[in-house]
Amino acid sequence: MNKLINVIGLGYVGLPTALLLSENYRVIGTDKDEQVVQRLRSGKHSFHEAELQVVYEQSLARGITFANEYQKADIYIVAVPTPFLVKSKKVDPKYLVDAMNEIKAVCPNDAIIVIESTIAPGTIDSYVRPLFVDKQVKLCHAPERVLPGNIIQELTNNSRTIGADEAAVSEEIKQMYQSFCKEDIICTDICTAEISKVIENTYRDINIAYANELKKICTNMGLDTYEVIRIANYHPRVNVLNPGPGVGGHCISVDPWFLVGEDSENTPLIQQARNINDSMPSYVWGKMKQAIEAGESGHGKKVVGLYGLTYKPNVDDIRESPALQLYKQLNPEEKSETYFFDPLVSTKVVENQLTDFNQFLDSIDVLLIFVPHDHIKQKYDEVVKKKIKIFDTNKTFEQAAQV
Ligand SMILES: NC(=O)c1ccc[n+]([C@@H]2O[C@H](COP(=O)([O-])OP(=O)(O)OC[C@H]3O[C@@H](n4cnc5c(N)ncnc54)[C@H](O)[C@@H]3O)[C@@H](O)[C@H]2O)c1
Repeated sequence: MNKLINVIGLGYVGLPTALLLSENYRVIGTDKDEQVVQRLRSGKHSFHEAELQVVYEQSLARGITFANEYQKADIYIVAVPTPFLVKSKKVDPKYLVDAMNEIKAVCPNDAIIVIESTIAPGTIDSYVRPLFVDKQVKLCHAPERVLPGNIIQELTNNSRTIGADEAAVSEEIKQMYQSFCKEDIICTDICTAEISKVIENTYRDINIAYANELKKICTNMGLDTYEVIRIANYHPRVNVLNPGPGVGGHCISVDPWFLVGEDSENTPLIQQARNINDSMPSYVWGKMKQAIEAGESGHGKKVVGLYGLTYKPNVDDIRESPALQLYKQLNPEEKSETYFFDPLVSTKVVENQLTDFNQFLDSIDVLLIFVPHDHIKQKYDEVVKKKIKIFDTNKTFEQAAQV
C-alpha cells in the first residue's frame, strides 16, 4: 500500500502540494485553523490561484481528506508560516516548533519529517533536532520556490532542493517529489538547503533594490528610469530589473532578514537593500503628493484613491504588501482622506476601503496604481473618461504620470 503523508499547514504552499501528492500517495491535510479545514471539507478552497480548482476537485475524487488533528503517518510535510522577529530579525520558529511538537506526539519511530517552510540557516539544528532527542525520526528540508499566481505550474516545473542527513532519506523524498515534479531535484545536506533557499530570495531583493535606487537617481535627474534600464539591458551581461512601489509578500521581503538575523555584521548590503525597498511605498506617495501640490492634477484639494492592496498583480495575498506598508506610515488625516480599492480583496483590511469599483471612481480625483491587476488594465479607459488623474508606480500605463 502507498505510504501515508500528512501535510501540515494548508496555505499557499501546503494545499497545492498535498493535492498534487494525492495522485500517487494517500494524503491527509492538517491545518490548525478550523475554518480552513471546514471550507476544504465542504468543497471550497481558501484562496485565488490558477488551476487550483481543477486539481482540488481531482484530488477530492481520489480521496484526499482534511483534518484539524495531526495523523499517524509515514511522512510529514510541514508548510507552516515562518515570519521574522522584528527586533532581532531572526526567524520566528514558533509555528514550526508547535508543528514539530504535535508531530512528535503522534508520529511512529522512523517517520520522515520534511520541512518545506523557508527557514534561516541552522534552524533545524537549533530548534528542531533538540525536540527529537528522545524520538527516532528522519529530518529533511525541501524548501519551496513557487511563485503565487502560478503555483501548480511552478510545483510541476521548478527544480528543487532536498537537504537530509542520510542519502537513503534524500532518495525516498526525491522519489516522492518526482511523483509530480518534472525538473531536476538536487540532494544536499540540511544547512546547505536552508541557506541556498534564503539566498535566492535575497538575490532578488538586492536586485530590486538596485532598480529602485536607480529610480530615485533618474527621477532626480528628470530621466525616464524605465528607458534608462531598457537601454542598459542591451548589454549582453546586464539584466537590471524594473523598479516599483516596494517589495511585499511572505518571501522576498522576509527571507533576507534571516541572513541579517544570523550575521548582522556581515550583511550591510542585504540590510541596505531591505531598507531601500522598504522606503519605496512612502517614496512614490511623496512623489505623487509633490505632483498634486504642483497642480499637475488641477487646482484645489484632491481626493486620492489607492488601487491595489495585494503585494503583486492578480493574486489575493496581502501579506507585507507595499500598499499596507504605506498605510501604516500615513498620518491620520491622510488615511481618512484616501480611498482604497482592490478587486481581489473583499475583506476589509483598511479604513475607507471600498468594494465597488464605480463607487471608488466616483469618490476620487486622483488614482494611484500600486498593483497593475488585469482588472485595472481592462478598466483603464473608463478611468480616463472620468477625467481622473492617474499616477502609475510600475509603468504599466504609458499615458499615466509615473511616480
Ligand atoms: N507563499 C509562497 O509563495 C511561498 C513560496 C515559497 C515558500 N514559502 C514558505 O512556505 C511556508 C508557508 O507559507 P504559505 O504562504 O503557505 O503560508 P500560509 O499562511 O498561506 O499557510 C500556512 C498555514 O499553516 C497553518 N498553520 C499555522 N501553524 C500551524 C500548526 N502549528 N499546525 C498546523 N497548521 C498550522 C495556518 O493556519 C495556515 O493555513 C512559509 O515558510 C513561507 O515562507 C511560501
